[in-house]
Amino acid sequence: MLLEVRDLHVEFHTRDGVAKAVNGVGYRVDEGETLAVLGESGSGKSVTAQAIMGILDVPPGRVTGGEVVFQGRDLLTLKEDERRRIRGAEMAMIFQDALSSLNPVLTVGDQLGEMFTVHRGMSRKQARAEAVELMDRVRIPAARERVGQYPHQFSGGMRQRIMIAMALALEPALIIADEPTTALDVTVQAQVMELLAELRREYRMGLVLITHDLGVVADVADRIAVMYAGRIVESAPVHDIYKAPAHPYTRGLLDSIPRLDRKGQELYAIKGLPPNLMSIPPGCAFHPRCPLARDVCRTDEPPLYQVSATRGSACHFWRECLDD
Ligand SMILES: Nc1ncnc2c1ncn2[C@@H]1O[C@H](COP(=O)(O)OP(=O)(O)OP(=O)(O)O)[C@@H](O)[C@H]1O
Ligand code: SF4
Ligand SMILES: [Mg+2]
Repeated sequence: MLLEVRDLHVEFHTRDGVAKAVNGVGYRVDEGETLAVLGESGSGKSVTAQAIMGILDVPPGRVTGGEVVFQGRDLLTLKEDERRRIRGAEMAMIFQDALSSLNPVLTVGDQLGEMFTVHRGMSRKQARAEAVELMDRVRIPAARERVGQYPHQFSGGMRQRIMIAMALALEPALIIADEPTTALDVTVQAQVMELLAELRREYRMGLVLITHDLGVVADVADRIAVMYAGRIVESAPVHDIYKAPAHPYTRGLLDSIPRLDRKGQELYAIKGLPPNLMSIPPGCAFHPRCPLARDVCRTDEPPLYQVSATRGSACHFWRECLDD
């Protein structure tokens, strides 16, 4: 087992009150496995990832409970300098927006090269050669000529490839990609996603893929974890979920699969809005929006019921949902 998040809690203290962004999240990723994390905007996908990486905004954010066990160590108990050493070298993150994540005043070659001079003690010349090699690997054409260019001289898709190259540089065991293609055109999205999936296989990395796009998930993920109001509401192998969801919220997500030829879709099929994280509904947080809700749902919070050896659902009526 590569990564196991256990009962993670994260709060944000704001002027308006305490937002409970993550409320007992648990998920695991094995070596070489891809876990897709799904859920509407505000469900806590990114905050969970930030807590795993140790890049949470503190304050206002605070981890108030849980464990992040990575390669056998609970990261939450490590000192900041130890965490920094793990970041980049053993786990890396790819963000949605490469332009704001890359340094605008350094050439791409210098930024990629820095990974090797700082972490591997290489000379500048060696590091430059490694940078070109990496650019080749992520299929940036004319890498040797372009290694001296600045981020703004690349297209959005090419910049995202540079981010992937940065993440891969030190061959980490785990990559967390937070909506890595959302900002791109549809055709470019598909290419970048394919590249990421291919490199993940080649390097045998674990991948946590946070996405709104259910269209890509079936092709690249092994497992799916569905989040709602800072909790996992369903967790299962990807094919089980597509065959029959065991949670009404997952069903709603599937029913709203966006057409592949249109980008940046939000999810419309589920009526109502995600809850206010300062006052999450009692019982099942999804009950105000759930077509299957009844009295018990308003009072009793469903645990993650074991549906099968590899599947869990936080719905009192998962059997009904599955049979539907
Ligand atoms: N820096 C912050 N300060 C205050 N609250 C925050 C901060 N970052 C996140 N939150 C809170 O945590 C909630 C969950 O945010 P998160 O970014 O994890 O959602 P998400 O699932 O990644 O959504 P999206 O799909 O839009 O990226 C937000 O709705 C917000 O209330
Ligand atoms: S527990 Fe009740 S409200 Fe929650 S998802 Fe299941 S049926 Fe719907
Ligand atoms: Mg997010």
